[in-house]
Amino acid sequence: MTEPKATTAPSAADANALWGGRFASGPAAIMQQINASIGFDQKLWAQDIAGSKAHATMLAARGIISGADRDAILAGLDQVAGEIEAGTFTFTVEHEDIHMNVESRLKEIIGEPAGRLHTARSRNDQVATDFKLWVRDALDRLDGDLKALQEALIDRAEQYVDTIMPGFTHLQTAQPVTFGHHLLAYVEMLGRDRSRARDARARLNECPLGSAALAGTPYPIDREMTAGLLGFTGPTANSLDAVSDRDFALEYLSIASIAGTHLSRLAEEIVIWCTTQFRFIRLSDAFTTGSSIMPQKRNPDAAELVRAKVGRVIGALNGLLIVMKGLPLAYSKDMQEDKEPVFMADETLALCLAATTGMIRDMVADPASMRRAVEAGFPTATDLADWLVRSLGIPFRDAHHVTGRIVKLAEEAGCGLADLPLDKMQAVHPDINEGVYAVLTLEASVNSRTSFGGTAPERVKAAVAMARARFL
Ligand code: ARG
Repeated sequence: MTEPKATTAPSAADANALWGGRFASGPAAIMQQINASIGFDQKLWAQDIAGSKAHATMLAARGIISGADRDAILAGLDQVAGEIEAGTFTFTVEHEDIHMNVESRLKEIIGEPAGRLHTARSRNDQVATDFKLWVRDALDRLDGDLKALQEALIDRAEQYVDTIMPGFTHLQTAQPVTFGHHLLAYVEMLGRDRSRARDARARLNECPLGSAALAGTPYPIDREMTAGLLGFTGPTANSLDAVSDRDFALEYLSIASIAGTHLSRLAEEIVIWCTTQFRFIRLSDAFTTGSSIMPQKRNPDAAELVRAKVGRVIGALNGLLIVMKGLPLAYSKDMQEDKEPVFMADETLALCLAATTGMIRDMVADPASMRRAVEAGFPTATDLADWLVRSLGIPFRDAHHVTGRIVKLAEEAGCGLADLPLDKMQAVHPDINEGVYAVLTLEASVNSRTSFGGTAPERVKAAVAMARARFL
C-alpha cells in the first residue's frame, strides 16, 4: 500500500456527506487544504450554535419542522457546545468549516432530525450571521479595553494636573503645557475610538439569517423572530447584500487601525520620554527590559512592540479591502478570507491595549527633567509677544518680530527670557517695563491658558472630572 499523494483524487466513498450528492469522489488533499477553514473559523463555534438554535426555534414556531425535531436539535446542539467547551470535540478538515463540523456531530448525536436544521438557510447566511455576532462581541470587548486605558490615563492626568512639561510642535519646544493636559489628549482620541465602535455595532446589528444562499427562501420563515432571538434589531433588507456584505468586518478593522494608530503614537511618545535625553518618565520594572550587554539600559520594549504591532492591524485592513474590492454579488469563497485578519487584529489590539494600560498605570513622571527641558526652549516667547500686544498696543506681527530679537539676545546671554535684564529688552523696544516679567514664568504661562480645552491647571482639573463623567 502506498500513501495517497496530495494530488490523488479519493474515491466516491469519500465524497462529502453534507454536499457530496452529485460528486463521484471526495476532494484532492490539496483541495481540502485550500478549502478548509476549520483551522481558524472554529473560533465561531458559540455563535454558530446560537444561530442554529435560533433558526431551529423559528422553524418549529412556523411549523416548518416539528416540535420534537426542534427539541432534539436544541438538546443535541447543547451537547455539541458542551463537548467543545470541555475540549473533547474533534474538529476535522473533512468537514471543512465550523458549520459543517457542528452539523456533522449533531447528526452523529441525534440522527435524522439534524438533517432538518439546514432547511431554509445556507452556509452563506449562516456564516454572515455567525461572523457578525462575533464582531459584535469583539466591538464590546474593544470598548471595555479602551475604557480601561482611559481610566489609567485619567488617573495619571489627575496626578500630574499641574506638572509642567514642554508642549511641542515639530517636536520642538513650543509652549509649556501640563503633563495632565497632554495625557488627556489621548483620552479624547480613545473616546472617539469608542464612539466609532458604538456606531459600527449599531450599523452591523441586522440579521442576515433567512437570506439563505442569496435569493431568500420559499419557506414561510419569520426573520424578525430569529433576529430578535440573536439580539439583532431586525433582519437585513436585501438577501443579496446580506450574504455578500463584509462592511462590518472592514469597519471593525478600520476602527482597530485608527485605535491602533493612537496607541502607536502614545507608544512613540513613551519611547521618547524614556530616553536619557528626555527622562520625562520612568516605566516600572514590570514594563522594561534590560540589555544583555549594556547594564545601564532600561529599554521600553513593550512600547516599541505596541508601536510595531499596529502595523499588522493596518495590514489586516488593507488585506481584507483587497479581498473584497472586486467581488461580484453575491457570495464568493474569497470571503472566507475575512476571518483571519479580524481575529488577528482583535488579538493584537487586545494585547497592545493591555500592555499600554499597564505601562500608563505604573509610569512615574520626572517633573525636574520636564522643567529643565522646557526652560531650555524659550517656551514663553508667545507670552512675551502677547504681553507686547496687550500692554503696549503693538500689532501682533510687530510684537512677533520684537520678541524674536529679544529671544536672540537671551540666547546670546545664555539665559531664559525671565532672566534677561530689563535694559536689554528695552534696547529692542524702549516701552517695555518691569510688568513683562509677570508673564515670562512657566507657571504664569500655563496658568494664563484658561480658554476651554486649554492647559491651565484649573482647566485640566475640571477636564479630569469631565472625562470621568463622560467616559468612565
Ligand atoms: N466557510 C465558509 C466561509 O467562511 C462558509 C460559507 C460557505 N459557503 C459556500 N457556498 N461554500 O465563507
